[in-house]
Amino acid sequence: MNPCPEGHLLNSPLRYAVVGCGRIAPLHLAALTAMPQVRLAATCDIVEERARAAAERFGAERYATDYRQLFRSGHLDAVSLCLPHHLHAEAILAAAEARIHVFCEKPLATTPADADRVIVACDRAGVRLGVCYQNRYNRASQELRKAVDQGRFGRILQAGITFQNRKSADYYAPGDWHGRWATEGGGALTTQAIHMMDLMLWLLGPAASVQARMATLVHAIEVEDTAAAAIEFASGALGTVVATTAAHTFWSQRLEIAGTHGKAVLLNNRIDEWDFADGAPDRTEVMAIDELRDTPDERGRYGPGHGRILRDFVHCLLAGRPFALDGREGRQISDLLWAIYESGRTGHLVRLRRPAVSDGLVGHVGPVGPA
Ligand SMILES: NC(=O)c1ccc[n+]([C@@H]2O[C@H](COP(=O)([O-])OP(=O)(O)OC[C@H]3O[C@@H](n4cnc5c(N)ncnc54)[C@H](O)[C@@H]3O)[C@@H](O)[C@H]2O)c1
Repeated sequence: MNPCPEGHLLNSPLRYAVVGCGRIAPLHLAALTAMPQVRLAATCDIVEERARAAAERFGAERYATDYRQLFRSGHLDAVSLCLPHHLHAEAILAAAEARIHVFCEKPLATTPADADRVIVACDRAGVRLGVCYQNRYNRASQELRKAVDQGRFGRILQAGITFQNRKSADYYAPGDWHGRWATEGGGALTTQAIHMMDLMLWLLGPAASVQARMATLVHAIEVEDTAAAAIEFASGALGTVVATTAAHTFWSQRLEIAGTHGKAVLLNNRIDEWDFADGAPDRTEVMAIDELRDTPDERGRYGPGHGRILRDFVHCLLAGRPFALDGREGRQISDLLWAIYESGRTGHLVRLRRPAVSDGLVGHVGPVGPA
């Protein structure tokens, strides 16, 4: 048993479960079963056949259909939640109540109130809460971050995200959780472009205000299949996000950053431009990074980051170290999304409030109104 800083003991290897055995779960299961520090104690899905199939494929000790019962069984140290968005908050709360550390797929929650509740509940229960923005762990993203930290861009002036994806009608089929505000909590921005937006915030710092337009141009859904937003960062830099899930292109994501001393473009997880006033002596090396060849999904959509972020989460748990991508960090990108939706709905510029520290809550979206 390893002591956890919050006072409870962790088993070694960690007894870990994965809840929700749909599309993304195999990436968690493959990552977890590759770690000697982890014992796959259970898989869980409301559809028994999915829980059973995942348990068989990845060698889980048991499978379950009710995560509340599973959490109460007292057999778990940590859990990955791979559930539809509207179920994240209630499952995090159930895990916290059972004093189980939680690693939740993005986004943290579908409402600001839920985000506050889960952060406070995990704090009070003394459990770690991690959020899955795995693209920060990609080598190309790390190179960008290093260049920012070293000041190689000079003053960062602008950043832009272009995201295009082609979703089928099946993805948004009636009855599925995608496509509805109550269950998905948003569309192209919340479910797809969110990863590039997370990278943008990670690299440029917090957003201060947004002005956005949203549209549902092709799919028969409630949420946006197309969106455009202009963002002002607290640093004064300006950024844009354009995203769609109705394009001809199957999957294309691009982030560009320009500053007084440098410019870089990240295109589909590769550095496509690397141009600095220092002559970019590392250009050949950085532009040769190509991790898509090694990704578990055939078209490289999810990138190679799941294994890395889960290893980091597990190592942090076992070492009693804080996990950087925690609930508060995960909350920042949700705050930006909610501000964009507010702006899209009202047509007004929306300011994001600075995180409140004293009450342990973070980043409420500020009052909405004309600039
Ligand atoms: N990080 C990434 O790159 C990435 C990629 C894809 C999806 N995701 C995220 O992963 C999460 C799941 O997405 P998905 O595409 O795998 O969805 P999915 O619909 O394929 O899978 C969700 C699974 O949860 C199960 N489920 C529903 N209610 C349940 C309950 N009460 N108890 C147990 N199981 C329940 C469903 O039966 C289904 O098998 C979402 O948050 C999504 O945004 C992240």
